[in-house]
Amino acid sequence: SAAEKDGYDWFMRKEIFEQPHAVADSLLGRRDAEGRLQLDEMRLADEELRDIDKIIIIACGTSFYAGMVAKYAIEHWTRTPVEVELASEFRYRDPIIDSTTLVVAISQSGETADTLQAIMHARAQRAKVLAICNTNGASIPRESDAVIYTHAGPEIGVASTKGLLTQLVACYLLALYIAQVKGTRYGDEIEDIMAQLEAMPDHIRTVLDGAEQVYELARAHVGTRSVLFLGRHAGYPVALEGALKLKELAYIHAEGFAAGELKHGPIALIEDGLPVLCVVPPRGRDHLHEKMLSGIQEVRARGARTICLAEAGDTSIEPYADHLIRLPKVPVLLQPLVACVPLQLFACELATAMGHDVDQPRNLAKSVTVE
Ligand code: G6P
Repeated sequence: SAAEKDGYDWFMRKEIFEQPHAVADSLLGRRDAEGRLQLDEMRLADEELRDIDKIIIIACGTSFYAGMVAKYAIEHWTRTPVEVELASEFRYRDPIIDSTTLVVAISQSGETADTLQAIMHARAQRAKVLAICNTNGASIPRESDAVIYTHAGPEIGVASTKGLLTQLVACYLLALYIAQVKGTRYGDEIEDIMAQLEAMPDHIRTVLDGAEQVYELARAHVGTRSVLFLGRHAGYPVALEGALKLKELAYIHAEGFAAGELKHGPIALIEDGLPVLCVVPPRGRDHLHEKMLSGIQEVRARGARTICLAEAGDTSIEPYADHLIRLPKVPVLLQPLVACVPLQLFACELATAMGHDVDQPRNLAKSVTVE
């Protein structure tokens, strides 16, 4: 009913707007009186965590993209090698794992069959398993050694939104916790990074305040047959997620690419008027931003219509953006928390304008409990 949806037309739209709150809740109570991170259900002893020499993240769908972002954060902050793999692939592989491997299973529902089977596969080889889950007492946390619960509240829309953002928060917390336990260089910066994380709900609110601009753009795309998404570094999984949302909700062909791969194929797809959505990394010292800019110039020179998500104050992008959506200025590793939001709004509004059922897209299920 409309009441359950708080006056929104769809649960999904309501859940998109709940994200500042969901992210704040997922950060709550994670520090002790001394400011050190503490994770309630991290039932792995510090010695066990210190011995971990490899992390494998397994998940499906949108949760898999949270895992891709996590790899950038965990490797940077903890210097522990991370692999990210689709659960449906991992479970039939012969992975090299043992008791010093930490397998991290990310699942909003905690009931996805492939992810559950992948956990069993890892446990049979004595790996430690940690679940990141939004559902108390679900099968996946029950079969795991430890769990970080996200506090998104119930997610009803089939396409995950606040589930994803709170998974990202849990991944950042895990990364920082490992840095703390292992005493890496970033162990000393936890206070600073936590403060940046704690500012994210306000930044997400700022993005949501600009929803109308994204909606207008979405409505102008009714009838579009194909949309490409480009990103790099932590923006690459954001591009993949933006494309997945369009497929799921609007049934439009959409592909996400790593911008650095353009020359190896995707650029051949560019034709006059093709919408290309570009997730522009924040400006920084590592040339990511400049590289992205040249990718955008290349697709635009071949006729693409560029829709750019770029941080406030970034004027360098203006000559190459047919449409510009502003993001708050945040560190590159945290940018997915704000950059995913316009892509959710875009897909939700475009599907609505096309007359589709946003909460119950055709052929999809909220939780895939059979293989
Ligand atoms: C289904 C849902 C997706 C979700 C995926 C993984 O495909 O439609 O929105 O991302 O399952 O679900 P999980 O509950 O394991 O995160």
